[in-house]
Amino acid sequence: MSQELIKKIQQLKNDTSALVLAHNYQAVEIQELADFRGDSLQLAIKAAEVDTSTIVFCGVRFMAETASILNTKADVLLPALDAGCPMADMISAEQLRNFKAEHPGSPVVCYVNSSVEVKAESDICCTSSNAVKVLQSLPADKPILFVPDRNLGTWAGAQADREVIVWDGYCPVHQWGFNIANVQSVRAKYPNYTLLAHPECDSDIIQYADLVMSTGGMMKWIETNDNAIIATENGLTRYMKSLYPQKNIVSLSIQANCKNMKKTTLEHLYLALQNHQHVIKVKPDIAEKAKRCITRMLEL
Ligand code: 13P
Ligand code: SF4
Repeated sequence: MSQELIKKIQQLKNDTSALVLAHNYQAVEIQELADFRGDSLQLAIKAAEVDTSTIVFCGVRFMAETASILNTKADVLLPALDAGCPMADMISAEQLRNFKAEHPGSPVVCYVNSSVEVKAESDICCTSSNAVKVLQSLPADKPILFVPDRNLGTWAGAQADREVIVWDGYCPVHQWGFNIANVQSVRAKYPNYTLLAHPECDSDIIQYADLVMSTGGMMKWIETNDNAIIATENGLTRYMKSLYPQKNIVSLSIQANCKNMKKTTLEHLYLALQNHQHVIKVKPDIAEKAKRCITRMLEL
């Protein structure tokens, strides 16, 4: 059944010339059908530069919105319409306006995992792969407001040597998916492995990591290395293992699953291509403001 569906999807991709992008957390079968896979920054750059009439974004809503803001010529489709990001919902535009009012004169950095309205209220955007660089691009004379991820903001602030005031948001998958008992037991079982952690993890976990990096950084690292313990969402570990079955790759915890990232099924991808659904549109006035903050990041 799924083989039949895969053939139909491949046929539709040829017929429609739609470009399929997939985030590193997507299910293996979705990543295998994608034309391009990557982390948030790599996918945003790809979406901005491609010359195609349709982009099918296998990921979550904020990613499809970012793609639609950056590429106004293409229709951006989100196959699973209800695939959101709980962290992005942890701050509203009104809450950000109040936060800014409490800290007048402080620049605002928003993690790309945020709504378009929050991006429209921010000075510059960042992803997990460039948060340190973005913070370093700002003057050190005032504290910087960082929304919505407290873990990424705290870690990147320390790396960039900037005073950062973080919003109290977090990714539930990275916050609750790992604990110190996981580190102790997995480290004891695999003593010579390198622990790679995503900066959305709590500092309790980060302190034990050998390297902290985005999902794109992890995919790059494993190209030339072996023996890894991965502390991020398990879709990445599964895809990594399918690409490199001969390498030793283990998850820090089997609990780290993002149900939103896994909402995109083969059926959804098929229906998206067949029915040209669901087109993600952002209101032009909000899109224009949000684009400024995303473009400022890309210009770095
Ligand atoms: P990156 O792929 O940019 O590392 O981000 C991870 C993530 O949580 C996306 O939702
Ligand atoms: Fe949001 Fe976390 Fe899922 Fe990424 S893994 S989409 S940050 S809930």
